[in-house]
Formats: sequence, structure tokens, C-alpha cells
Amino acid sequence: MKVLKAACVAFVVILGVASAIRQSQLWANAVDAVSTGASVADRDGRLHVPDDYRTTYQLLGSWAIAADDSHGSKELHVVYASPGVIDAYRKDKRFPDGAVLVKEVFKATTSEMTTGTVSRADALKGWFVMVKDAANSHPGSPLWGDGWGWSWFDAGDRSKTTTTNYKAQCQACHVPVRTSDWVYVDGYPPLKP
Ligand code: HEC
Repeated sequence: MKVLKAACVAFVVILGVASAIRQSQLWANAVDAVSTGASVADRDGRLHVPDDYRTTYQLLGSWAIAADDSHGSKELHVVYASPGVIDAYRKDKRFPDGAVLVKEVFKATTSEMTTGTVSRADALKGWFVMVKDAANSHPGSPLWGDGWGWSWFDAGDRSKTTTTNYKAQCQACHVPVRTSDWVYVDGYPPLKP
């Protein structure tokens, strides 16, 4: 009887340990999926807008595009980075492999408020997504190169990009920030030490 009891206790302990190990593996995988960019690119390198970026990503900063009549802004851009990117960038001064950057583009509405003439985010136009790919793992793709995957998504479809060629449709405009890995880092206070 004593032997049986000891065996039972040992069995329960083993189950407990196995479950703890499994939990930590599941957690590690979940973290991996967010921080490696695996969650925004499929095997063929097709990108989509990550479902959960507004709750799980970290805010990098925002941009206001002046209205043509200089009365407030006509667009607001809000930029997020996948979890861990800010810490890694502060430490190594570069974007870690798998880093995902999401830029929301909003049409802005301007009105007089108690703080002054104020523009706020109105309708979402869509998203720009960049994924760091130091290994240049999709050499044949017109949406990957220079260390990143690049795509735009209209607000109506977060899984199908309308971008066909990053060199012409993205990179040309990012040339001024070539030396900071094609990213407008000056606009992002959290990246500064
Ligand atoms: C008309 C020029 C222009 C084009 C075209 C353009 N970008 Fe940008 N992009 C910018 C500028 C300028 C900023 C920062 C200021 C702002 O948002 O207005 C920026 C910011 C970004 C950001 C936020 C991170 C960063 O670099 O600061 C992402 C992500 C981004 N662009 C991705 C793309 C992708 C992907 C494409 C192509 C599908 C693209 N951009 C096309 C000019 C452009």
C-alpha cells in the first residue's frame, strides 16, 4: 500500500512538471510568433496586417501632415513596433531580425477645441507594413529587399496588399533615411536612449 501511494505521488509530480514545461514552451512559441515577424508573413513572403497590433505592439510615434491651406492637418500617421523592438534597438542601435513596423494612415478632421485648432484621426485609409529580414530570405520577390519586406494595405483588406514593387512604390521615398536602415527614426522618441 505504501509503495502504491509513493508511486501515485511520484506520478502526480511528474504530470505537474510536464505540464509546467509544456506551458513554458507554449509561451515561448507565442512570444516567438509575435517578435519574429512570422505572424505577418506567410511562407511565400505574403504579408498581412497583424490582427492584434493595437493591443500587443508598442507605440513608436506619430506624424501630422499639414493641410494644403495650413489649417491643421490633412493626415495623421501612427507608427507601432512589434514587442521587444524598442528594447533591442536601444541596446544594439539596429532593428532586430523579424521586427515589424506598422504605420496607420488616417484622414484627419480639424476643429476648434478648448486647446486650440486641433486635428484628430478620422477614417482609417490603410496601413504600411515593414518586416525586418536581415537574411534577405525572399530574393526573387518584388516586395522584399534591402533588408525588409514592404507592403501597403487598403483599409478594406488587411490581408491582400496592393503593392507590386517595393523599389518603385516604397523605397524611392525612403532614400533620405537610407543610413538609418530606411526608417524615419528621428520621429520615434522611444528609440532614443
Ligand atoms: C511619398 C513618399 C513615401 C512612399 C511612397 C512610401 N513611404 Fe513610407 N514613409 C515616408 C515618410 C516620409 C515616412 C515618415 C513620415 C510620415 O509618415 O509622413 C514614412 C514612414 C513609413 C513607415 C514607418 C516607419 C518609418 O520608416 O519611419 C513605414 C512602416 C513605411 N513608411 C512603410 C512604407 C512602405 C511599405 C511603402 C510602400 C508600400 C512606403 N512606406 C511608401 C514616405 C513614403
